[in-house]
Amino acid sequence: MESPVQDHWPRTVRIEQIKQETPLIHSFWFKDEKLQAARPGQFSMVWVPGIDEVPMSVLAIHGRAETGVVIKKGGDVSLSLFEKKSGDKLWLRGPYGRPFDPGPYNKLLLVGGGTGLVPLISLLGHISDREVTLVTGARTAAELLFREWLVHESERHDFKLFFATDDGTFGIKNQVPKVAEEVMKKEKFEAVFTCGPEPMMKQVYDLAVSRKCHVQASLERVFKCGVGICAACVIGPYLVCKDGPVFTDHELAQMSEFGSTHRDLSGKKVPLMPGH
Ligand code: FES
Repeated sequence: MESPVQDHWPRTVRIEQIKQETPLIHSFWFKDEKLQAARPGQFSMVWVPGIDEVPMSVLAIHGRAETGVVIKKGGDVSLSLFEKKSGDKLWLRGPYGRPFDPGPYNKLLLVGGGTGLVPLISLLGHISDREVTLVTGARTAAELLFREWLVHESERHDFKLFFATDDGTFGIKNQVPKVAEEVMKKEKFEAVFTCGPEPMMKQVYDLAVSRKCHVQASLERVFKCGVGICAACVIGPYLVCKDGPVFTDHELAQMSEFGSTHRDLSGKKVPLMPGH
């Protein structure tokens, strides 16, 4: 039997499939019992020896035997992972953190941007008995994540789906929060679940709160331990890795940093950049 400490040691998995989802985003699929049981919104710490360890949302699709992580090319960890091939090893631990909670709400709006769509896709499998509308977007059609899969699933499970692109090459020519606003003007939702760039989530949060609609948002901060020890991920009175990453409107209201600042690797507060 594993001790509590061993439970947090990175374990190895073999990559079974790598798929290019957009020009800059790849999904990596593997079998791992613990991550397969992750709740939507929970994360795994993915370790690249000699480089870094970073948090990634777990993609667990209902009925699929493999679990995924979805990685956007950018930092050192992603560059190293983009060199991997099927059969190579990944080191990871988790799942960790507090997931989305669909609660008793029946009419739900999901708003996702970029790889922030990942936990919302995991969430879809848990809310197939609810009335769901999903809004997502990207700068251009080629960057829309899981476009074909979402179209297929929206027809199969009968949920409403809106795509937004900045350049109008697919879906509505507008930004995701603006499309979400139009959707919210036409329909009343009981709860909004959002994940993506924080300025986007802040706009969605403000829209929902102004309509007295319950909101949950999944935040991202610098993570080091991932389990509530180091305080690298502090925001307001909370630790994002342990108390979140999903927070409710009541908790988000206590975070003056939400939508404006985050902490860099040294712990210093710095302004959020567009797209963060
Ligand atoms: S990452 Fe260490 S406390 Fe959150």
